[in-house]
Amino acid sequence: MTLNGGGVEPPRRATGLSELDRVCGGGLVPGSALLVGGDPGIGKSTLLLQAVAALATGGARCAYVSGEEAVDQVRLRARRLGLSNSPVMLATATDLRDIVASLEGPQAPDVVVIDSIQTMFVDSLDSAPGTVAQVRACAQELIRLAKRRGFVLLLVGHVTKEGVIAGPRVLEHMVDTVLYFEGDRGHQFRILRAVKNRFGATDEIGVFEMTDVGLVEVANPSALFLAERRGNVAGSCVFAGIEGTRPMLVEIQALVAPSAMGTPRRAVVGWDTGRLSMVLAVLDARCGLALSGNDVYLNVAGGLRIGEPAADLAVAAALVSSATGQPMAADTVVFGEVGLSGEVRAVSQPDQRVKEAAKLGFAQAVVPRRKAKTPLAAAPLTVRAVGHLQDVVALFQGGRSERAT
Ligand SMILES: Nc1ncnc2c1ncn2[C@@H]1O[C@H](COP(=O)(O)OP(=O)(O)OP(=O)(O)O)[C@@H](O)[C@H]1O
Ligand SMILES: [Mg+2]
Repeated sequence: MTLNGGGVEPPRRATGLSELDRVCGGGLVPGSALLVGGDPGIGKSTLLLQAVAALATGGARCAYVSGEEAVDQVRLRARRLGLSNSPVMLATATDLRDIVASLEGPQAPDVVVIDSIQTMFVDSLDSAPGTVAQVRACAQELIRLAKRRGFVLLLVGHVTKEGVIAGPRVLEHMVDTVLYFEGDRGHQFRILRAVKNRFGATDEIGVFEMTDVGLVEVANPSALFLAERRGNVAGSCVFAGIEGTRPMLVEIQALVAPSAMGTPRRAVVGWDTGRLSMVLAVLDARCGLALSGNDVYLNVAGGLRIGEPAADLAVAAALVSSATGQPMAADTVVFGEVGLSGEVRAVSQPDQRVKEAAKLGFAQAVVPRRKAKTPLAAAPLTVRAVGHLQDVVALFQGGRSERAT
């Protein structure tokens, strides 16, 4: 056998929830196993019920096996979501032997949801459902069956306090795709994130809004994340980020306040604490801004978690803005990585970021200076290229005030 030959791109089954399809790499792959993890009540069952309902309406044979809720409960949810008429086969079962027996039937389903893997058990093992041995044995059996019969297996997995999928880590190794459904209970946004994918990229996210009729896809997350922003407030800066293949604008909020304590407080929501310390240290050491004795709070508005170093510059701008009490011009976006000597480093896909900002009505962008001669492709807004963090600090020391009016 060789690597070259036979196999073609796996055919994919689009669910019709385009955010879900994109996170999976373009749809569900038959014979593959997908694990969806998330905090209690975040909306895992809702998401998968909506997905199979859409698939079933499109003609796929779908089965939803619930080990957590009674049939009536699932039906009630389906009614609330307006999905009662979808021909999804519904079952409540926790004994894996029963489930396997019905999936072995003459007509194999195309898509099977197991909600959740922690409630399933095989009677050959003594341990209780949810234990490492049970979770592993059940998953193994189901995955083997999915591969053999070619159906898509969607497993729901609970998340422990530490934020990992309960049960063995090995569960994540066994499946082809691991998705995390996250979000803040206080916000209606839900983010679906691929942390492992054998059939696609893993940095892709899908954005949903939880409403009383279920999860609604958010086609334009930037507009949503910026919806509650108030212009001309010191300490606020809009970051032009990239999540997966998609540009996404988010507001970064900083509050720098004199500390009443010997050890100043640092609180960060949605970003990395270590990275914040670094930006503060660079502002201290390279720009002469003595911020490290202050309490510093940083928040990424809307409940998004940013992992990109490209947010450094926007964080720095928000910090300086708060410290100086000078608002950043409300029509400005910022992106760039900051190095330890205060240099502003180039980041990936600047054109896409600028384009998204222009699309949303922003008029200026503060971006890293480029070494290459290629300017930003036909920049649709005013671009201010900076080479050092000091240039950004200067925006708030006079250079800014006439522009901010
Ligand atoms: N009647 C309702 N009206 C509006 N929203 C509702 C209603 N009932 C439930 N919800 C929303 O659905 C969410 C629960 O969704 P779901 O049951 O899909 O979560 P889950 O992740 O499967 O939870 P669990 O871990 O308990 O299985 C609730 O947090 C709530 O936001
Ligand atoms: Mg559930």
